[in-house]
Amino acid sequence: MENRQLPLPDFSKLDRQFRTLQEYREFSQLYNGAIREVQTKLDILDEEFKVRYEHNPIHHMEFRQKTIESMMGKLYKKEKPISLQSARENLYDIAGIRVICFYIDDIYRLANMLTSQGDITLVRTRDYIAHPKKNGYRSLHLVVKVPVFLSRSTELVPVEIQIRTIAMDFWASLEHQLRYKSGEDVSAGIPERLARCAETSAMLDLEMQDIYHAINGFGGLEPAALSPQLMKMANEIYESSKKSSEEE
Ligand code: GTP
Ligand code: MG
Repeated sequence: MENRQLPLPDFSKLDRQFRTLQEYREFSQLYNGAIREVQTKLDILDEEFKVRYEHNPIHHMEFRQKTIESMMGKLYKKEKPISLQSARENLYDIAGIRVICFYIDDIYRLANMLTSQGDITLVRTRDYIAHPKKNGYRSLHLVVKVPVFLSRSTELVPVEIQIRTIAMDFWASLEHQLRYKSGEDVSAGIPERLARCAETSAMLDLEMQDIYHAINGFGGLEPAALSPQLMKMANEIYESSKKSSEEE
């Protein structure tokens, strides 16, 4: 009988794979830890607000960690090396938190309170509420670094936080879905209609906030800073409601 030897696997290669797997587990655990740190901070602020002002600013939160495919895609687009170390150095949105608030004021209050905490470093702010994107997208984006305490070191880990109202989230979710469905082929007039929907929902946000204040007053809270653009819209709503009440 022929004595056939099974080829031995290349253990050095397998060892490399195991090590890579372990590295990714550690990487992922780090970002997961950062998400939980920020989540706890936001939960505490939300609860304190409830106790102090009888109002919860946060409606709900969503969390996600970027997939390996998505990280590789973004590094490739940015023309950066494709490795975990490069992802750690070049990507700020591996850990993502979306905070959905009731009112516009809540967004700025939460952002101010979170970023003034001693262990939080603000890396980037993009205020798409004061300056909506051309398509109508609105949200406040922050990138913060938060310390994650490990057994042998403390790592500062970036987390992207998107803070928006229920109305902004409603618009963004549908717009995302529609864009995904239509691909690149967007028929004439659609972007303009979507932008108009965003304006309408921004008006709703201002009106609902105004109603909240009419019922509750400011309850010891100063109104949070409104951007000039929102201030202009608020004035327009005020003028038109004044006009319609004069006509009655
Ligand atoms: P990304 O490469 O997409 O991460 O963009 P960026 O690094 O320039 O960051 P930016 O702050 O502009 O946007 C980051 C995230 O905000 C996106 O991944 C989306 O979740 C959200 N976002 C930004 N613009 C839009 C938009 O026009 N529509 C929707 N639905 N979401 C958006
Ligand atoms: Mg992103």
